[in-house]
Amino acid sequence: MLRRATDQDFDPLEAMVSAQFGWDPDAESHEREQLRFEADRDYLILDRENTIVGNAGAYSAALTVPGAVLPAALVTGVAVEPAHRRQGLLRRLMAHQLTEIATAGQEPIAVLWASEGRIYQRFGYGLATRRAAMAIESREVVLQSPAVDEGRVRTCSPETVRAELEGLYARVLPDRPGWFTRSERWWTGRLMDPKSVREGASARRVIVYERAGDTGGTVVDGYAMWRMKPGHSQGGPNGEVRVIELVAATTQAYVALWRHLLTMDLTRKVFADFLAVDEPLVHLVDEPRRLRMTVADGLWLRVVDLPAALAGRWYAAPVDVVIEVSDAMLPQNAGRWRLRSDVDGVGTCEPAAGADPDLVCDIADLGAVYLGGTPLGRLADAGRVRELKPYAIRRIGAAFGWHRDPAGFEMF
Ligand SMILES: CC(C)(COP(=O)(O)OP(=O)(O)OC[C@H]1O[C@@H](n2cnc3c(N)ncnc32)[C@H](O)[C@@H]1OP(=O)(O)O)[C@@H](O)C(=O)NCCC(=O)NCCS
Repeated sequence: MLRRATDQDFDPLEAMVSAQFGWDPDAESHEREQLRFEADRDYLILDRENTIVGNAGAYSAALTVPGAVLPAALVTGVAVEPAHRRQGLLRRLMAHQLTEIATAGQEPIAVLWASEGRIYQRFGYGLATRRAAMAIESREVVLQSPAVDEGRVRTCSPETVRAELEGLYARVLPDRPGWFTRSERWWTGRLMDPKSVREGASARRVIVYERAGDTGGTVVDGYAMWRMKPGHSQGGPNGEVRVIELVAATTQAYVALWRHLLTMDLTRKVFADFLAVDEPLVHLVDEPRRLRMTVADGLWLRVVDLPAALAGRWYAAPVDVVIEVSDAMLPQNAGRWRLRSDVDGVGTCEPAAGADPDLVCDIADLGAVYLGGTPLGRLADAGRVRELKPYAIRRIGAAFGWHRDPAGFEMF
């Protein structure tokens, strides 16, 4: 039986889902997950004994897309109990969840982190962001900052600066495709520091970058949360800095925070994950190779309501085209659509049943290009999308691009 969850389902649900990912919840992680849990967005499949054997949930938030911040379903907690796998339970859950999101009509897109990339393409998700990570040899890179440093970096406890952290995150978010809004409950969870996630490193530390405000007082322009993992060898100290998240509204703040982390005494490495592929740090150091940057798949995005999604983002170039889209799971998206955007980048999207298409693609391809991080030309080279009129890929690709690469900033 498939049914919506209630708050009473949380404990057995958490036990089932965590078992599939191989982790054991402790009191703190339990509290954090419970804070985020949205029972009315969670669907369960139960067996004859009423035991939960399948689950798919979602968090409600808004996601930054090119030029806008749109309501989005953050899909999470997807798991099926081993004895019930490969019998179509996930397919049932995905079909139900996407239909419910589409029917509610509030969220034109859904996003998720995939445990394995091969799972979700069949449900119309496309690879929309890439996840960059760095294992920086911190003694081998020197920051070459042209910025004049007028502020200071200060260590503080998150409780005393929570309002500043929240304010700064909200200030930076609209310009970072792939970032999502955090509710008060989400912030409470984010600022918790369960021992189970520390992996042998210290408790979480917080630094802020602040400068004098124009009208007195101080303004926080950046913050970083990080841990230190101490280490010593015959050759001397070789500790590590592990960055949890770094948010900066200005270049000065960005440089000052990175400088602080890269020059920490007794450490020789800095690890950072969930970075953007176009991270400015690459252009700020004298030896980018020693940043040891690696890139993997990031957020997968599903266009749920095609006209609302395409009209909801902005475009980097004017365009007037007809796109023919296939969508096996949500047939209301299938067909021909006319996409137009003006010189300012504002788009409109209308059905165009009788018109000749410029481009043919699947809904998963629209998901891949939607945040501006996957060039349409790359999908064409991979044989996934097809142009039917000259230069369609070039014209539409330019419109869907964006000046900043999207990034999935936080796993959910
Ligand atoms: C991934 C998982 C949820 C799949 O559940 P399931 O009920 O076995 O999936 P279904 O039977 O509905 O499979 C639907 C389709 O996806 C495919 N598929 C499912 N899981 C897959 C996987 N891990 N790798 C490759 N293909 C997979 C199936 O082969 C099937 O393909 P088809 O449509 O061509 O027939 C389940 O294996 C699981 O819980 N894994 C561990 C936790 C996990 O990785 N969760 C995902 C978190 S993002």
